[in-house]
Amino acid sequence: MWAMIATWRMAIEGITEACKGLNEGMDAGDAVELAVKMVEDYPFYKSVGYGGLPNENCEVELDAAYMDGDTLAIGAVAGIRDYANPVSIARKLSDEKVNNFLVGAGAEAYAHKNGFERKNMLTDRAKLHYEKRKKETLEKGLSPYIGHDTVGMISLDENGKMCAATSTSGLFMKKRGRIGDSALSGSGFYVDSEVGGATATGLGEDLMKGCISYEIVRLMKEGKHPQEACDIAVNQLDKELIRRRGKAGDLSLVALNNKGEWGVATNIADFTFSVATKNEEPTVYISNRVDGKTIHEVASQEWLDAYAARIKAPIEI
Ligand code: GLY
Repeated sequence: MWAMIATWRMAIEGITEACKGLNEGMDAGDAVELAVKMVEDYPFYKSVGYGGLPNENCEVELDAAYMDGDTLAIGAVAGIRDYANPVSIARKLSDEKVNNFLVGAGAEAYAHKNGFERKNMLTDRAKLHYEKRKKETLEKGLSPYIGHDTVGMISLDENGKMCAATSTSGLFMKKRGRIGDSALSGSGFYVDSEVGGATATGLGEDLMKGCISYEIVRLMKEGKHPQEACDIAVNQLDKELIRRRGKAGDLSLVALNNKGEWGVATNIADFTFSVATKNEEPTVYISNRVDGKTIHEVASQEWLDAYAARIKAPIEI
């Protein structure tokens, strides 16, 4: 069996390409790296890689991670600027004995030393989004912080190896140096080939409070189906955050076990995700929580067309 699952519609092209490879025996690590790189490279996905939304100083600072579910090796970068593919740098770091998680200037020096491609990651379109949000924040008092769609993926190959990878520009208008969940093992991602993996998108500050990716893997290890594990973990964290703090930020999780079974849970409306397995064509689903359970429906062609038009629509300031 091989399989792949990822947060959001933006992952579908990468998943489609990587799954062709998995079907021909590609390694799970190569598959997640290839698929995440495709998201990082596409300028119209405005929360990951090239074209990602900047911090409050209009600088694009990126976070990414990679985990090997066979060896439990982890590599991560955070707050890295001017490098094309943070996920590949994270993967390279996972091979090191120590110094596996590097931030800012240290991550950039490592990337330079290891020959990774330098690139100005701030696009003109991202600058327009920035100007628009600055104006809205001043004029209408809107929260500057909306927008934190991370791509997170879990892969399973024919040899039973599982890997996880994440990549994000983090919270739009974040403070310089702010790091979310995506680079943090256990919060933004976790994978163990003997069980399965999970990865998150949403408000990093709240996802971190539940170490929620690890919690889902732990529940799967107890024998829960990925769907049940996701629903339990998301509902519990959502409830606890509301009880203790009055509100919960966006929490959306995708999970895959080592049999190729998957699950997804969310506390937001219309969360999208992308999935493919040996038995299921690459598909985009839309999820909603109904009575504590997450229900998934296949995205219609009409929805997909509207999405494609929306991400390229002119930005009016
Ligand atoms: N989940 C992405 C972030 O909060 O940075």
